[in-house]
Amino acid sequence: MSEKISLQDLQSMKERGEPITMLTAYDYPTAVMLDRAGIEMALVGDSLGMVVHGFENTLPVTMDMMILHTQAVRRGVKRAFLVGDMPFMSYQSGFSDAMKNAGRFLSEAGADAVKLEGGLHMATTVNTLVTAGIAVMGHIGLTPQSVSAFGGFKTQGKSAQAAHKLIDDARALQDAGAFALVLEAIPARLAEVISQQISIPTIGIGAGVGCDGQVLVTHDLLGLFDRHTAKFVRQYASVGEAMRGAFEQYRDDVKARAFPAPEHSYAMPDDAWEAVAAGYAKAKNGAKKK
Ligand code: KIV
Repeated sequence: MSEKISLQDLQSMKERGEPITMLTAYDYPTAVMLDRAGIEMALVGDSLGMVVHGFENTLPVTMDMMILHTQAVRRGVKRAFLVGDMPFMSYQSGFSDAMKNAGRFLSEAGADAVKLEGGLHMATTVNTLVTAGIAVMGHIGLTPQSVSAFGGFKTQGKSAQAAHKLIDDARALQDAGAFALVLEAIPARLAEVISQQISIPTIGIGAGVGCDGQVLVTHDLLGLFDRHTAKFVRQYASVGEAMRGAFEQYRDDVKARAFPAPEHSYAMPDDAWEAVAAGYAKAKNGAKKK
């Protein structure tokens, strides 16, 4: 359980048909819990732009934001394989930007790999990074950084033509050296076929049970982000409601002077306190005489 998960472990899991679990993490405490729970992969997703920073989409996320969050997650994750998500325009703008920014994830933040969005048209970029020794995870289907081009967060690959294109994209990324692929918001039977046709693991989100693994945005799973919930989310806890309940209880206790209680307060030895009280009384008397 404590052995660090490697690329070989993920590949073997696909080969023996054991589903791979992946969750997003953006901070130290979440990373610690995810690791203790035995999740195999931690993704510092650019979804943090929406669920942590409150942006409308992932486009405003910068490399500096990603590095800061990845560093925090690195400190919490000992076993899980750690993937840093390359934000918008950190790799689309050219090979040298892609190389420099992917390198930052590894050298400054201690990530084990990077993820980037896009199919066939990103294959050369993937290959450039892989050739330089950087492990790359692909991401096809609904790729949120192209949300404007898609006209919103819409399911992809529903027509025969679009499905063929996704199969070609998956093959191209595999051939370029990607070690795994995220398949997001595509029909379940298409995701299953892709998973059978390529030899690297597929990690689905809204792509059905036929993928080699699953990923969710942790804030969705915990019920900590209710601005928009996709059909593919299963909420496993109501942490947002639990937080609100605790905050309300705290507010009521403070207003009623029920918190802090004696057990939350520090005591002082009697003799020290008597000396303080005597000094205080003397000063008060002196002030009165004047
Ligand atoms: O940014 C993210 O969290 C992601 C996952 C949804 C796969 O890319």
